[in-house]
Amino acid sequence: MLKLKNIKDLKTVQTPFWYYDMDLFRRTIDTVAAQSAEYGVLVHYSIKANAEPRLVDYIAEAGLGADCVSGNEVLYALEHGFPAEKIVFAGVGKTDEELRDALCAGIGSFNSESIEELETLEQLAGGLGLKANVSVRINPDVDAHTHRFITTGLEMDKFGIPKKDMDRVIALFKSSKNLNFKGLHFHIGSQITDVENVFTHECISANGIVSHFESQGLRVDNIDLGGGLGVDYYNPDSHAIPEFGLWFQTLTEHLRHRPDQRIHVEPGRALVAQCASLVSRVIFVKDGERKSFVILDAGMNDLLRPALYGAYHKIENLTYESDELRLYDVVGPVCETTDLFAEDRTLPLTRRGDLVAIRSAGAYGAVMSSTYNMRKPARTVFSDEPIQ
Ligand code: LLP
Repeated sequence: MLKLKNIKDLKTVQTPFWYYDMDLFRRTIDTVAAQSAEYGVLVHYSIKANAEPRLVDYIAEAGLGADCVSGNEVLYALEHGFPAEKIVFAGVGKTDEELRDALCAGIGSFNSESIEELETLEQLAGGLGLKANVSVRINPDVDAHTHRFITTGLEMDKFGIPKKDMDRVIALFKSSKNLNFKGLHFHIGSQITDVENVFTHECISANGIVSHFESQGLRVDNIDLGGGLGVDYYNPDSHAIPEFGLWFQTLTEHLRHRPDQRIHVEPGRALVAQCASLVSRVIFVKDGERKSFVILDAGMNDLLRPALYGAYHKIENLTYESDELRLYDVVGPVCETTDLFAEDRTLPLTRRGDLVAIRSAGAYGAVMSSTYNMRKPARTVFSDEPIQ
């Protein structure tokens, strides 16, 4: 059960808000930093998961790199202290302006996703008199066994360069004047829970692709295996810190690599999901013909994941611990039927005015929120700062 450390009066606290357990956050980052060092894996935090400045600053200070997917994320990472050489930049549709800005910043690697992007980079770098550091994102056609909407490494997905084009890519680098070939990049999807099995398959596929590039005379110095490590949305307290060690062990064991080849990863969710909850108040409890609805003052505009992916988030009543269990649909106030945080969820008897926590909301929560229905953004509360 979530404990709101710095909030004395649950009755009057203004809702909804994102509540950050900063102690858990710091322990998570310290753990990933220590374990990645142990396995010799270089970690780039995927800023898209949560761009809260306090979190991003701490991650940069811990020595991790940044994984960005827009020009603005690259600029933000630079402003928040990530050294340019630790920044990688993926995305299927980088505009010329975004490419130019990142070139001028001298980022560590463009993770390029098409032949047209490589040709554009070659031209832009030449025009600026610069060299572009480039890794090639190959679509490995590996199933991440996760939700279809967050699967990225299958042949029908828009991401990466298809394997059939590998030889064109190799020829392009051989004749290029302005591209430094840095290595290969893969990312097969997100919220991967079958860690050993799925990441082993990713490594096996990567091994073949790395060998092909090297057999054609391109040295692969960097192998970036992307993000995707899942978190336990069902048991946020007993599995508060994801199994980074198991992930790194799986990758370092199954990826064939020489000591001089560097392995990179780009976790987002695993670093930030468990440290935040969306705390909301029950506005009404309505008994319908077939269902009972718990109606919250947070909605899909705050946390979109359940509406968009049918994602499960644990819900807890922080005010009232009744022994009497009921079946509820937990919904928000937004005028959409998909504004549904949980369907047929068993919860203790819940009443108007109760405070409710939607757990594991630190990743892809605040960053995906909107003001739909002209709703005010939920505020941010940190466990280590006083609040009114
Ligand atoms: N690297 C690349 C190239 C990515 O596209 C992503 C996520 C990551 C790394 C980080 O993946 P993670 O470690 O967080 O799984 N909004 C969805 C998730 C979308 C993920 C997009 N790409 C959700 O709420 O589940």
